[in-house]
Amino acid sequence: MTKPETDVIHRGEGANPDARPLTTPIYQTSTFLFEDAAQLERYQTGERAGYLYSRYENPTVEAAEAKVAALEGAEAAIVTASGMAAASTALFGLLSAGDELVVSGAIYGGTLHLVHEFLSRFGVKVRVVPAGGDLAAAVASSTRVVWFESPTNPTLRCLDIRAVVEACRRHGSTSIFDNTFASPLNQRPLDLGIDLVMHSATKYLNGHSDVIAGVLAGSRAIIDRVAPARKFIGGILDPSAAYALSRGLKTLAVRVARQNDTAQRVARWLAADSRVRAVYYPGLPSHPDHAVARAQMQGFGGMVTFAAGGTLDAARAVFDRLKLIGRAASLGGVESICSLPVLTSHYGIDDAGLEAAGVTRDMIRLSVGLEHPDDLIADLDQALGAPRS
Ligand SMILES: Cc1ncc(COP(=O)(O)O)c(C=O)c1O
Repeated sequence: MTKPETDVIHRGEGANPDARPLTTPIYQTSTFLFEDAAQLERYQTGERAGYLYSRYENPTVEAAEAKVAALEGAEAAIVTASGMAAASTALFGLLSAGDELVVSGAIYGGTLHLVHEFLSRFGVKVRVVPAGGDLAAAVASSTRVVWFESPTNPTLRCLDIRAVVEACRRHGSTSIFDNTFASPLNQRPLDLGIDLVMHSATKYLNGHSDVIAGVLAGSRAIIDRVAPARKFIGGILDPSAAYALSRGLKTLAVRVARQNDTAQRVARWLAADSRVRAVYYPGLPSHPDHAVARAQMQGFGGMVTFAAGGTLDAARAVFDRLKLIGRAASLGGVESICSLPVLTSHYGIDDAGLEAAGVTRDMIRLSVGLEHPDDLIADLDQALGAPRS
């Protein structure tokens, strides 16, 4: 019996097997059809790989996952609805009540909120190592999971990844590393021994400031441990966003190469200007962690922080005068944007807290995009105001 034509059209079964799209089709469907009960049963027993429901798995989502895994040199990856969904999937997937979680104090503020305000309510013992502290030395045999990131926000300090990995291995702890700021083009944490890599794919991976997404990548075994948390917390990426992420990834290598070059040029220019009090960029030999960065990064990234004028008011004036560079939170997109850390990531933190984090009130954080470096430098030049006499 042939099916009515409308039924075929509505069920999306009319695809021509000779039509092989170059790009990944968007499987914008919440659920998938089965021929009969036997096929459904084969799916449930694992005898047949397939698709049941898009909160569990989806072909467009899987295409993005395969690309991300290849970029990180991982056996497997999963993508999530945001970087925070990736963080919660990883931490709820790997930790139980009574476990100790050690986190670097120099991590994304949202991750700190997650561990302090949620995980601790479920009996996870959270120990924070203040920014600048020795994270490797803080790992103990009681430590189940260690979470850190490098370069850090906004001072772009670089933690020695191998040293933390070595401490984790000695104590049987699982290491999770947020690689958002570097991108896999500039840093491959799994190659350095990290167990699980996380990204806010909202940033460099997608790269166009139009998608919120997250990533976890690692061995098949660790991804199998965290994947159920994504399924039951419910944080899988939407198929359309997965398509956009896959498209963004196609240009990651050229974007990052250009952003590295431009950031290095901008940082050098800022460092040579007397109106700029300090420049923080791991690619500058004057950066305190330049040697660490050289030993573990393939490029120094597109983030540059600088300090001007000594006060928040002075930094605000520079910030407000920018014309080409946008004033916005986030990073990693093709448009250059700037933020004031004391009004964003470090808002409301007292002087002692700022000092501990190495953050000053006159800091401006720049995420370098794809504009011509001369145009960015011209904008910074006019925004910095009259040259010092
Ligand atoms: C380093 C870092 N990690 C994680 C996140 C959280 O990612 P998302 O905003 O995609 O949830 C961010 C977001 O700003 C970030 O900068």
